[in-house]
Amino acid sequence: MKFKSCAILAFAILCIVFTKVACETEPDKDDPTTTVTPEPPKKTPVKDSKLCKKCICDIQNNFLDCNEKLGDWFSSDQWNDLTNGDVVFKTIRLEHNNLTTIPALPAYGVENLYLAFNQIENITLGAFRNLSELVNLDISHNKLTTKTLVPDVFQGPYSTSDYKPLPKLRSLNLGYNDLHSLDGDIFEHIPQLEELVLCSNPFQIINKNAEVAISGLAYLKTLDISYLEIDELPETVLHGPRDLNTLLAAGNEFRSLPDGLEYAQNLIHLVLNENPIENLVGDNVFPNMTSLKYLSMSFMPKLYKIGPGAFSELQNLTELILSDNKFLNEFDELAFSKNVTGGPYLDYPPLEHFFLNNCNLTVLPKPLLVRWDKVKVLDLQYNPWRCDSSNDYLINELIGHVNKTNSILAKNVKCAFPDELKDVTVLRVADEHLVQTPGASLVWIGLLVVLLIVIPTVVAAYAIKKRGCFGRFRRSDSVANRALYNRTSFNEDFHI
Ligand SMILES: *[C@@H]1O[C@H](CO)[C@@H](O)[C@H](O)[C@H]1NC(C)=O
Ligand SMILES: *[C@@H]1O[C@H](CO)[C@@H](O)[C@H](O)[C@H]1NC(C)=O
Ligand SMILES: *[C@@H]1O[C@H](CO)[C@@H](O)[C@H](O)[C@H]1NC(C)=O
Ligand SMILES: *[C@@H]1O[C@H](CO)[C@@H](O)[C@H](O)[C@H]1NC(C)=O
Ligand SMILES: *[C@@H]1O[C@H](CO)[C@@H](O)[C@H](O)[C@H]1NC(C)=O
Ligand SMILES: *[C@@H]1O[C@H](CO)[C@@H](O)[C@H](O)[C@H]1NC(C)=O
Ligand SMILES: *[C@@H]1O[C@H](CO)[C@@H](O)[C@H](O)[C@H]1NC(C)=O
Ligand SMILES: *[C@@H]1O[C@H](CO)[C@@H](O)[C@H](O)[C@H]1NC(C)=O
Repeated sequence: MKFKSCAILAFAILCIVFTKVACETEPDKDDPTTTVTPEPPKKTPVKDSKLCKKCICDIQNNFLDCNEKLGDWFSSDQWNDLTNGDVVFKTIRLEHNNLTTIPALPAYGVENLYLAFNQIENITLGAFRNLSELVNLDISHNKLTTKTLVPDVFQGPYSTSDYKPLPKLRSLNLGYNDLHSLDGDIFEHIPQLEELVLCSNPFQIINKNAEVAISGLAYLKTLDISYLEIDELPETVLHGPRDLNTLLAAGNEFRSLPDGLEYAQNLIHLVLNENPIENLVGDNVFPNMTSLKYLSMSFMPKLYKIGPGAFSELQNLTELILSDNKFLNEFDELAFSKNVTGGPYLDYPPLEHFFLNNCNLTVLPKPLLVRWDKVKVLDLQYNPWRCDSSNDYLINELIGHVNKTNSILAKNVKCAFPDELKDVTVLRVADEHLVQTPGASLVWIGLLVVLLIVIPTVVAAYAIKKRGCFGRFRRSDSVANRALYNRTSFNEDFHI
């Protein structure tokens, strides 16, 4: 990142230098007397063009950055600078330019076109037809509506009888617009899409048309349906795209796991953050998804319980992120295990990264996993851990493993109970043996003996020696007599 901004800065400086040079030579160029012979159309150096005075031209990386620089589309002169230039910009950024529409764009070899953060409301039919190399198109953060986003905006080149698909388009970002649905045929000209981002559009429901549109994308690998305000996912959405490997569905209204996850047999990454799922118990546990490796369920506003078998069918899971689930308090020790063989052994996912930070967990049961030693990153920070014998495994084994593999992650693993160990790190509790454990209990019994028997005896002996036996006995006698007296007088009162 730093390198990138440095590179951009360097080019900005270069561009300024070139601008100066160009300014000085311009009069010559424009002087009609110097153009004597009509030369064949020659590629003009783009870096000397007027466009590169306005935008940042990173010639080396074929990158044209016009973010916030134009306030409108390229003028025809600027297009000429581009199309006649000696360099083809593979990446063009036109963000924050107050564009309201996308006109029919001239033939140009751009591969990545970023049009986010404008006010684009509508797109000319076939706008991208002549961008034969276009791979990635980002129209996020605009004002597209279901009405203006019609299938023919993605028309490809016209052949004798029909429009051909846009040949190379693979990634389309329609996030942060005003889409309530999608036309059922919206992708008819771009059926080979591999990545579709729809996040942050007010869908509220994936209706039949949108379902048809998405499930028809047979080559889709990544689908982002985060923040669509939906509480259901039609099963076909996961049924159609056979190669789907990444599904992002954060920030929706799912109260249980989306239906049809079992059809996503090639899914590797799944993000379900910020959904109001309360628990993973009973039928609401993950189905057989053997290819899933990465699962994130963070910032769940209601999740309090992970029950038996919740993750048992995720037998290839290596990374599980359950952080910032403020109410998560119950984690069943059978959440991961699966009785595959019917024999005495259980199978567990091969977890390597396991994030449980900022939850409400008090104990971590040992049987939750078997190969704890294979967990390379275990984040247990900021939970109200119980520091007594009920949390024996965390205190006596795991925290040492965490400290050894990632000592920084041991820092904020602190006790909340009992009161006398509040805010003490579990690592310190382990290191200084502050908790009674089966092995250490003899020490504690010894200590108790000292506290309860030896010390009072010594004190008593000292007192006896000082006051003498009679003084003490006499005093207790008088106390006993007083009690007796009180009792009889009470009885007498009662009889009268
Ligand atoms: C876009 O419009 C706003 C408001 O009119 C203006 O402040 C801003 O400078 C414009 N952006 C560009 C790149 O012209
Ligand atoms: C796109 O290409 C076609 C065929 O070459 C041409 O007729 C048309 O004018 C081009 N469109 C634009 C906007 O340049
Ligand atoms: C769509 O764009 C055209 C210009 O191409 C404009 O006249 C029209 O008002 C736009 N329609 C909407 C709904 O924004
Ligand atoms: C789970 O899915 C895999 C791959 O589709 C399949 O081979 C396996 O038999 C399934 N297991 C169960 C228990 O359904
Ligand atoms: C599970 O992971 C292993 C190792 O990465 C891989 O070889 C195997 O194909 C995965 N299984 C499935 C069903 O994807
Ligand atoms: C955390 O769990 C405890 C029980 O261990 C419960 O009393 C408390 O209300 C929980 N806190 C939150 C924020 O859910
Ligand atoms: C697995 O299931 C079989 C049959 O239900 C049972 O006999 C066995 O004890 C189970 N294994 C474990 C480790 O629970
Ligand atoms: C924790 O790890 C640090 C750094 O590796 C080490 O210096 C320290 O002794 C460890 N503490 C305990 C209690 O094991």
